Formats: sequence, structure tokens, C-alpha cells
Amino acid sequence: MISENLDHLKKAAALKAMEFIRDGMIVGLGTGSTAKHLLVALGEQVRAGKKLRGVPTSQETAALARESGIPLIETENRWEIDVALDGADQVDPDFNLIKGGGGALLKEKIVAASAKQFIVMVDHTKQVPVLGGSFPLPIEVIPFGWGGTARAIEALTKSRVVLRERNGTPFKTEAGHLIVDVHINRIDRPGELETALNLIPGVVETGLFVGRTSVLIVGTPQGVHTLHVPRK
Ligand code: A5P
Repeated sequence: MISENLDHLKKAAALKAMEFIRDGMIVGLGTGSTAKHLLVALGEQVRAGKKLRGVPTSQETAALARESGIPLIETENRWEIDVALDGADQVDPDFNLIKGGGGALLKEKIVAASAKQFIVMVDHTKQVPVLGGSFPLPIEVIPFGWGGTARAIEALTKSRVVLRERNGTPFKTEAGHLIVDVHINRIDRPGELETALNLIPGVVETGLFVGRTSVLIVGTPQGVHTLHVPRK
């Protein structure tokens, strides 16, 4: 029952986010259950004549977009993404995020970083006073020597690091990497942590999205809130 209610709120946030997609745009398409609502709604608009091209952040999203009739750009060298829209696993009061619950964080971050605007769509339960705690931080690592990489992450964060598995075997990302989930109690300085983690050999990318959000759209039982992030 609870998840049904949350799905309704995710959908409400995704439908609100549609307002940021205008005719002719190149649109970064996120991954996950919230992004799925967006793809369905966007597909309807495309079939009704809206012109746009999407950049998918996962094979799952690419397949859904194709089903919905959304034209895609996947391998172009010099794309200029007008707006990227995606879900998140946690959002802090400064609009920093943890992402990667679905394992697509690498492409999600590349697309968010290439977009002029990054719109984040969540239900209200994703908002937290500080990142960490209930949701472990996903980190994508190279399989070669991953145990040493995990130990270095453990030493840096002083937290438990767990190799992500699916059906009893290591989860492989689309790029052929592994994911370790770091059980950090609280992430007080996400920007510093992101920089330090990225300096560890073997780390490909982290699920910390710091200072990237342009607009946060939150589905709540009281309605949808659109929060514009002040530019520093
Ligand atoms: C995918 O790797 C993730 O970053 C998702 O964007 C995130 O887990 C949000 O997922 P839901 O929209 O399914 O909650």
C-alpha cells in the first residue's frame, strides 16, 4: 500500500517536470521508477507531434523510450543536452543527492553534467536532513583489484563497504564495472567526500551528485512542490 502511494507521488513529480521540456530540445532521460513515469508521458507528447531527442542513461531507459516512440541519441560525440530529468535516492537541504540505487549512476552523472539544466524528481520520503544513514552510498569500481579499492574506501569513510550482488553473483554495471555500497552513517561534507573518493585508484564514479541540481520537484501528499536551486 505504502509503495503504491509513493508511486503516485513520483508520478505527480514526473508530470510536473514535463513543464521543463520544450519543443526541439535534447533531453537527458533518467533511470528508475520515477523516470519511467516521465518516459510514458513524454512518449504521449511525442506521438502527438512534440519534437525532441532523448539521451538515455541506461539500456532499460533506452528500451522504454523506444517503446514510447521517443527518438534517441546514444553515441554522438558532441551532444548539447538542454535539460536532463532523473530521480534520486536521497536529497539533502542543499539539493545534493545520492543516486545509483538502480546501478545506472555513471551514465546518469555524465548526462547530468552535460545538461544545461538538471531537474530532479522525487517523492517526499527521499528528502533527508543529511545524506547517508538509511541509504548506502553506491560507488562504481573497476573489477581489477576491487578488494583493494574497497579497503581504501573503507579506510577513508570508516564505514562498512559491501559488494553489490544480484541473484547471488556480483552486480555488473552496463560498463562492466562493479558497485560497492558504502554504509555511511552521515555525510556531512558531500563535496569533500566526492573529491576524496574520486582520488582512490579503481573508483570510476560515486553516487554523490553535489551542486548539480537546478530544480527539485517533490511529490508530497499535500501537492507537488517545485524548488528552484539558487545559483552560487
Ligand atoms: C538509478 O541508478 C538511480 O539513480 C535512480 O535514479 C534512483 O534510484 C531513483 O529511483 P526511483 O525513481 O525508482 O526511486
